[in-house]
Amino acid sequence: MSDVKTIRVALAGCGTVGGGVAEIVINRGEALAHRTGLRFEIVKALVSDASKNRDVPFDSSLFTDDPNELAAVDADMVVEVMGGTDRAREVVLAALQRSVPVVTANKALLAHHGVEVYEAARKGNTCIAFEASCVGGLPIIGALLRGLQANCNTSIMGIFNSTCNYILTEMLSGGASYADALKSAQQAGYAEADPTLDVGGGDTAHKLTILASLAFGLNLDGDNVAMEGIESIELTDLQTAQELGYACKLIGIGKRFDDGAVSLSVHPTLIPHGETLAGMNGTSGAVVVQSDVVGETFYAGAGAGSLPTASAVVADMIDVATGAAQKTFEQIRVYNDRTATPKHRDANERGYAYFVRASANDAASSVDKLKGCDVEWKHLAPNSQNDSAIAITAVMAESRFKNKLADIQETLSLAESPKFIRILPQETNR
Ligand SMILES: NC(=O)c1ccc[n+]([C@@H]2O[C@H](COP(=O)([O-])OP(=O)(O)OC[C@H]3O[C@@H](n4cnc5c(N)ncnc54)[C@H](OP(=O)(O)O)[C@@H]3O)[C@@H](O)[C@H]2O)c1
Repeated sequence: MSDVKTIRVALAGCGTVGGGVAEIVINRGEALAHRTGLRFEIVKALVSDASKNRDVPFDSSLFTDDPNELAAVDADMVVEVMGGTDRAREVVLAALQRSVPVVTANKALLAHHGVEVYEAARKGNTCIAFEASCVGGLPIIGALLRGLQANCNTSIMGIFNSTCNYILTEMLSGGASYADALKSAQQAGYAEADPTLDVGGGDTAHKLTILASLAFGLNLDGDNVAMEGIESIELTDLQTAQELGYACKLIGIGKRFDDGAVSLSVHPTLIPHGETLAGMNGTSGAVVVQSDVVGETFYAGAGAGSLPTASAVVADMIDVATGAAQKTFEQIRVYNDRTATPKHRDANERGYAYFVRASANDAASSVDKLKGCDVEWKHLAPNSQNDSAIAITAVMAESRFKNKLADIQETLSLAESPKFIRILPQETNR
C-alpha cells in the first residue's frame, strides 16, 4: 500500500505487554496498516538482559540494556511497557524532554508522578497516552477523555485488579482457601511471585487514582487512598455471603461530594447478585461511572494479559501517530498538572452496611449476645457451619461502625475483632 506511513517505535520493555505489542504491530501489521494507514516498525527494544533468548517477531539485534541507546535512536514515539517508577520514569521523562511522545501502561508511574510526567510532556510540546495503565484492554480512559466529556462525573468504581478477581472467583468456585487460590493464580501466571501489590490493594489504588483524577478533573495523589486488600478474606465468608445474595469483589471506589471533596478507597466489598459487577468473574475487569448527564455507564472486559493490554497500548500508538492524542492532551483539562488539588474526605465518613461474623462459644449464644448489642441489625442468624452469628447492619458511617465493632468484641469477650466486609451502597449513595 503506497499510502501507508511508517512509524518508528522505541520499545522500552519487552515482557508480557511488550511482547503483545510486537505481536500486534508486526504479526498483525498488514491488517493494522490496512485499517489505519500506519505501519509500526520497532527500531530498538530496551530490556534488563539483552542476552536473553526471546521469541519475538523482530531482529534480536535490536535489543539493548542501555537506556542511552534507546534514547539515541531516531524514533517517532517511545512505548514504555517496562513497569516500575525508577528506570521507567527516567526513560519517559527523557523522551518527553526530547519532544518524543510516549505511550505507557505504567499505572504506578502515573499514580505517583503524574504531575511531573504531564508537565514534562507540555514543556516538550508533546503528549503522553496511557489507556493500558488502567484495567488492561478496557477502553475506559478513552471513555473518560472523550465519551463522557459532556458530563460532570460523581463517582467511579470497579474491579480494577484481575489477580484479585481470579483469586476470589477460584476460592468460591473451587472451595479453596485464600492461600491455595493464590498458589493457583501464580501457577496460571495471573499472580506475581511477590503478589503484594495486587492482593494488598496497591495496584487497584494506583488505577483508582488515575481514573478518579481523569473522571473528576482533579489533581489526586496515589498516597491518599484508604486501602485494604484481600489477604484476610476467608472462604466461609464468601460462601455465607453467596447464600445471602452477595458476591465479594475487591472494589476501588472514588467519590466526589457536592462540596468538591473527594474520597478514594479500596477494599473487599459485597455486591448484591442483581448488580452487573457481581457477575464479573475470573480475570475480568469492570468500571462503573456515575455522571450527571448520561447517568450510569458500565465498561467490562479483559482486565489484564498480554494481548488485551497490548490492544490498549496499540490503540494509543495509533492515536499518537494520527495526532489525536496530542490534540486531546493539549485541549482537555483533566490531566492533573492543570487541575486543582481537592480536599480529601476521610474514608471513615463514608456510609456502608456491614456483613459481620462473630463467634462466641456457639452460634446460638453468639446470636443472643449480638441481639444485646446497641446495633441496628438488618439480618441476624446463626451459622452452624462455622459456629458463629452472621449479621448485616443498617447503613452507618465507618467511624461509627468501628466503635460498634469494639463494643461487640467486648460484649462477646472476643480475643480478636469480629470479621466484617463492607456492602456496596445503593446507586444513589455511591
Ligand atoms: N501484564 C499485564 O497484564 C499488564 C496489564 C496492564 C498494565 N501492565 C503494565 O505494563 C507494564 C509492563 O508489565 P509486564 O507485565 O509486561 O512486565 P514484564 O513482563 O515484567 O516485562 C517488563 C519488561 O521490561 C524490562 N525491564 C524491566 N525493568 C527494566 C529495567 N530497569 N531496565 C531495562 N528493562 C527493564 C524487562 O526486561 P527483561 O525481559 O530482560 O526482564 C521486560 O522486558 C507495567 O507497568 C505493568 O503495570 C501490565
